[in-house]
Amino acid sequence: MSEKWLETRVVENRHWTEALFSLRVEGAKLSFRAGQFVRIALDAVAGDAGSRVARPFSFVNPPADPVLEFYGIVVPQGPLSPRLEKLAAGDALYVAPRPAGFLVLSEVPDADTLWLMSTGTGIAPFLSILRTDVPWQRFSNVVLVHAVRHARELVYHDLIKDLKRQKSLRYVTFVSRESAPGSLAGRIPAAIRDERLEAAAGLRLGAQGSQVMLCGNPEMLADVAAALAERGMRKHRRRAPGHITVESFW
Ligand SMILES: Cc1cc2nc3c(=O)[nH]c(=O)nc-3n(C[C@H](O)[C@H](O)[C@H](O)COP(=O)(O)OP(=O)(O)OC[C@H]3O[C@@H](n4cnc5c(N)ncnc54)[C@H](O)[C@@H]3O)c2cc1C
Ligand SMILES: NC(=O)c1ccc[n+]([C@@H]2O[C@H](COP(=O)([O-])OP(=O)(O)OC[C@H]3O[C@@H](n4cnc5c(N)ncnc54)[C@H](OP(=O)(O)O)[C@@H]3O)[C@@H](O)[C@H]2O)c1
Repeated sequence: MSEKWLETRVVENRHWTEALFSLRVEGAKLSFRAGQFVRIALDAVAGDAGSRVARPFSFVNPPADPVLEFYGIVVPQGPLSPRLEKLAAGDALYVAPRPAGFLVLSEVPDADTLWLMSTGTGIAPFLSILRTDVPWQRFSNVVLVHAVRHARELVYHDLIKDLKRQKSLRYVTFVSRESAPGSLAGRIPAAIRDERLEAAAGLRLGAQGSQVMLCGNPEMLADVAAALAERGMRKHRRRAPGHITVESFW
């Protein structure tokens, strides 16, 4: 079935590092819930609308914002991401008409503390969620965890600084491949096991009182879920309520 694409125009392509970029586009009215994604596409052959190369991308913008924002990394051999990184203001980007995805707060049971744990570009859907009123109304504490290889990949400083005006927000970062003052070393699962993550957040992480949303590298999702299982936490399902809601980026 051929997809009906909506044409948008790039407003800005911000480059954070040689590999990380944030695309802002306008021109498509989409209805979605914070945390969802949409397929975005370019012509497989320039000027040939008959075949497009498309990939899912999470919204960084909240649903109320008409300018759509996507945060990406260049996968050097990938068919789409190196081309997205090169887009400039005025270029066309196609978006699918129907966003989707279950990494949304309406799928997450109530709790005292909401933990949002991400690797790399997996922070994107959490930024959209945090730019709505819902997390602050529903949870006493919100912990945003971002794990990256290098300190320069800790992006969206201004937005996060702005979000920190919410007294209930804690922001915990991991830098795994260099030493970085102010960030935890290593990976999230090890820091759950040795309680460094809880110490950094100043909050308990457990089946009593915590809900966890995970996004990014699929191996991180599995390894964090295993570390949380040791604390009696399991995947949340509508028919079998639990504590962990996930979205894998590949
Ligand atoms: C539900 C969903 C939401 C997504 N949201 C985003 C998003 O907001 N931002 C984003 O950059 N990507 C996101 N992705 C991944 C995205 O769809 C593409 O896979 C990515 O942009 C690379 O595209 P590509 O065509 O260049 O290479 P692909 O052929 O798609 O990927 C090649 C390989 O690159 C690696 N890879 C893919 N995506 C990433 C990534 N994000 N970070 C590190 N390594 C990666 C994997 O090893 C993958 O097998 C999402 C994927 C899914 C399923
Ligand atoms: N110049 C470029 O074009 C360029 C530059 C950089 C990256 N890239 C592309 O981007 C890809 C990597 O993207 P990325 O760095 O955002 O993602 P990533 O490889 O998922 O790394 C992000 C963070 O997740 C951690 N992590 C990885 N596996 C984990 C696991 N099983 N459990 C817990 N944490 C885990 C990493 O720790 P570790 O460090 O310990 O693995 C790192 O801190 C590369 O494959 C490459 O294709 C391109």
